[in-house]
Amino acid sequence: MCGITGYIGHKEAYPIIINGLKRLEYRGYDSAGIILNENGIFKLRKTKGKVSDLEVKCAKLNSKATVGMGHTRWATHGVPSDVNSHPHISNNGRIALIHNGIIENYGTLKIMLTSKGYVFKSETDTEVLVNLIQFMQETQKVDLFTAIRYALNEVIGAYAIAVMEVEQPEEIIVARLSSPLAIGIGENEYFIASDASPFVEFTKEAVYLEDGEMAAITLEGVDIHKIKDNAKVNPIIQELKLNLEEIEKGGYDHFMLKEIHEQPKSIMDTMRGRLLVEEGVIQMSGIWDHQEKFFNAERIIIISCGTSWHAALIGEYLIEDLARIPVEVEYASEFRYRNPIITDRDIVIAISQSGETADTLAALKLAKEKGAFIYGICNVVDSSIARLTDAGSYTHAGPEIGVASTKAFTAQLAVLSMIAIKLAKHRGTISKERFTSLITELETIPDKVEKVIRNTEEQVKEIALLYSRTNNFLYLGRGYNYPIALEGALKLKEISYIHAEGYPAAEMKHGPIALIDNNMPVVVIAPKTLHYDKIVSNIQEINSRKGKVIAIVTENDIQVRSMVSQAIEIPDVSECLTPILASVPLQLLAYYIAILRGANVDQPRNLAKSVTVE
Ligand code: G6P
Repeated sequence: MCGITGYIGHKEAYPIIINGLKRLEYRGYDSAGIILNENGIFKLRKTKGKVSDLEVKCAKLNSKATVGMGHTRWATHGVPSDVNSHPHISNNGRIALIHNGIIENYGTLKIMLTSKGYVFKSETDTEVLVNLIQFMQETQKVDLFTAIRYALNEVIGAYAIAVMEVEQPEEIIVARLSSPLAIGIGENEYFIASDASPFVEFTKEAVYLEDGEMAAITLEGVDIHKIKDNAKVNPIIQELKLNLEEIEKGGYDHFMLKEIHEQPKSIMDTMRGRLLVEEGVIQMSGIWDHQEKFFNAERIIIISCGTSWHAALIGEYLIEDLARIPVEVEYASEFRYRNPIITDRDIVIAISQSGETADTLAALKLAKEKGAFIYGICNVVDSSIARLTDAGSYTHAGPEIGVASTKAFTAQLAVLSMIAIKLAKHRGTISKERFTSLITELETIPDKVEKVIRNTEEQVKEIALLYSRTNNFLYLGRGYNYPIALEGALKLKEISYIHAEGYPAAEMKHGPIALIDNNMPVVVIAPKTLHYDKIVSNIQEINSRKGKVIAIVTENDIQVRSMVSQAIEIPDVSECLTPILASVPLQLLAYYIAILRGANVDQPRNLAKSVTVE
């Protein structure tokens, strides 16, 4: 993880870099640092804490420098501390480096460098890399670019790096392998960043470095080469689709709340141009262009992490239920290391909001090597996963900044619903009438999500007041809503630090029931679906043990309402679409409880939005 950004041009670099770091804080926020090159002198400030703490430390910096770079950290090697913060400087004081990723063989390299007299102040792998660059420069008698290239050829791991040399105030050198790096192209000015958000108000043109590439950026332009053999690469300039408004809070207290409220629009945007109800069509070119593979698929494997993994589970229910194709869902981190059986008859789908999650990316590379057809469901356009896949469908949820995923999740569910319904239609596993009724219903989902937010937010605030001091929560659901129980519990624990567990409701009696007493709130997702009677029985079982039930129910459900402490209503929809609606009040519940507990919901402790380390 970690966010990196930099600037070279004619403007003052400091404010551009600080603002850029604030936009990248979703990638890590346990320490931050900045380095400016002021006429051949490094000005370095770094600190444990957030970018706002760095600003305090920079109060007297007073720099007019027009080149510099900054870093916001999510600690991997070494605790968050001033000394472990980036940038790191080489022993000779001439080279500065910021890094997103992990140098896996840093231990061996550190021993080698120590034996040559190098001294290390921090516990980081990054300080090893910057000194390896110095070592290459001195022993091979080469310029900085070549020294970086040589050093990177010795490195095992993942990185997006930016390097400055004190005697070269008009140059920043960048390189990437498995961590993202974008170069913004302005007029006689250039920006670098982990994503385009730091420079979106300055330019709409960017070059995305590919894996294994490095670039020298000067006022004259961007010179890209392959790290391996120095072969020259022609830059491909892309038009950015990002807007400034999309990455600002827009009057909301937190990005998370804004993103919860954006869901009617983000789901609509995800379905726009694809769900064509009047024509009776779901148009998804990623599927259509590979129809033979999809319509005849014997097996689909979905890999992902975190909230995206919960979406994958719902994808399994959707595709198996509607399209009757066997689906397996795997944590990417497990899949990649367990020698999975994959053949060229398999379709492997990766779901990832960021498109950069290291485990998902690596698992996908493995699947590709083994000959599977790989498909991506990503939110970030042109992200590493999106570029690796054979085909895919973007979720058009817009930038998601809050670390706890909300609108990206429901957009993933919208894409998965469309894929499942489309496959079902073409495979003939649902009737024409069912197809028509499902797509008609899907079209109403944005309005229904709007209604859920409108009708439940105040009620959820009151419920949050009742339970904000609780230490444990249980979430139960069945069928399509079992993954929603997992997701509800994850949302609560990530942002409020309350211990929460999600379980399939029927499994409660195999363990969690032992935890239930009158201090245990149990959130039961209980819409009127196939399993309604079963879940009513589960609620009885909780009541008999004096647990407090908060239920998500279908509108006008008198039966469950009379049995529970609180009932939150969602509109009536087909079972396969209930997860989208049921997830919304659970997002709000986690949000309002976290607020009452004084937690930083957008930047929960120890977490980061984009996990680019294993
Ligand atoms: C992190 C984030 C989660 C996210 C997960 C997977 O843990 O905090 O919100 O669900 O990574 O990320 P991805 O970008 O692959 O969906």
